[in-house]
Amino acid sequence: MARLAQRLPFATVVFRNPCRNGRLTISVRCNIAGCPNMAEMVAAEAGGSVLAARYVARMAAGDITPDAGQARVVGALASLEQRIASRRLARKSSALGWLFARREDSIPRVRGLYIHGAVGRGKTMLVDLFYESVAVRKRKRRAHFHEFMADVHARIFQVRKDMKEGRLKDGDPIAPVAAALYEEAWLLCFDEFHVTDIADAMILGRLFEKLFDLGVVIVATSNVAPDDLYKGGLNRALFLPFIAMIEQHMEVVRIESPTDYRMEKLGGARTWYVPAAHETMADIDREMDKVWHRIAGIDGGAPARVTSGARTIPVPRAGGGGARFTFADLCGVPLGATDYLRLARTYHTLVIDHIPQLDQDTRNEAKRFITLIDELYEKGVKVVASAPAEPEQLYLGTEGAEAFEWARTVSRLHEMRSDDYIARPHGRGDSHASGNTTGLVET
Ligand SMILES: Nc1ncnc2c1ncn2[C@@H]1O[C@H](COP(=O)(O)OP(=O)(O)OP(=O)(O)O)[C@@H](O)[C@H]1O
Ligand SMILES: [Mg+2]
Repeated sequence: MARLAQRLPFATVVFRNPCRNGRLTISVRCNIAGCPNMAEMVAAEAGGSVLAARYVARMAAGDITPDAGQARVVGALASLEQRIASRRLARKSSALGWLFARREDSIPRVRGLYIHGAVGRGKTMLVDLFYESVAVRKRKRRAHFHEFMADVHARIFQVRKDMKEGRLKDGDPIAPVAAALYEEAWLLCFDEFHVTDIADAMILGRLFEKLFDLGVVIVATSNVAPDDLYKGGLNRALFLPFIAMIEQHMEVVRIESPTDYRMEKLGGARTWYVPAAHETMADIDREMDKVWHRIAGIDGGAPARVTSGARTIPVPRAGGGGARFTFADLCGVPLGATDYLRLARTYHTLVIDHIPQLDQDTRNEAKRFITLIDELYEKGVKVVASAPAEPEQLYLGTEGAEAFEWARTVSRLHEMRSDDYIARPHGRGDSHASGNTTGLVET
């Protein structure tokens, strides 16, 4: 460590594992400008934690601000990373069981991690970093919690059908579903864990019990502590054993960061860019570039792909949990509500360039934009956009459903510019207002 510190005088970051056996302490000094391979070097010096090394590298590159609350969570994640690495070694030696007489059930159980805290504190960012860094190549899955549960319900439905039609022996449908999930992935990372649906609440206990028995490791982010899950929900007493199970199988850590970084980047700033009298569209594009770099970091992110059912949506730039598109990328192609919902769950902010003026001739684009804004609004996604005019002057058509629906879009776009909206958690809209877009049919 002394060798590295001498060569790279910059900052010292200490990660401490806040969880029970808080043994992990990593101290790192770094200066990325002088050392392009710093992440790997720090990983070597910091007890092999790739996650800690990448976190420090991003800090040293100026992408993220030092934050003691986050550093504690990095410590907990780095410790989990190491427990997982030890488990892999144990599994390998168990595979040679005839030599070492080890059995699968002698492999130590690994407790997962439940990270909770206020909005914009970097929970999703840290879990993404963990997911990329952890030494599990194949059997891991990162999912939005609601999408995972939708998948679980679909699988239970299919198993029940197979049982009814005699293809499977009668029994508890949750057991084969848990076994299939475990075969696909033994490390599950859930973003935005929260329970509001009674159908989810009533199967979670049995599902997680089976998953934990099989040795599945779960990492989750949430805006609420386990004790507050499904608060006020119907039959909550039946849900309480599930909370106890979480606390038994997952270390619970609160992210104590004082900063809402999303608010810091977007709060009080312009989010709807219309050229003022002295401005050209090129000026606006430059302003949009600046906003994008605040979100995605100095390198401006990279192209990405989002899978939506059988479809793959190309994302021109993605970084820092945000994505940047032109209006034509999003609404000039046949995407629908499900695709927009996938984007809304994947990114906390969308930067949309060049929303044009729309009219009856471009009503399909207008309908898609209405649907897009409904999905983004419902999921609390922040929007930064450039356009030739304010929302109310953008749709020029006067007939048909779109003219009427546009009024809702205008109202939402205005609300989405407020600090109250920007402070909303990603993934949960507060609104139960009519966001129904089923009546809108492509013509
Ligand atoms: N230490 C930091 N310095 C600068 N930016 C940061 C830092 N931590 C996180 N960010 C950025 O802040 C934004 C919000 O982070 P993130 O989406 O991870 O928050 P969150 O806690 O998951 O919020 P929510 O509860 O709404 O889901 C992201 O763009 C992320 O890259
Ligand atoms: Mg998040």
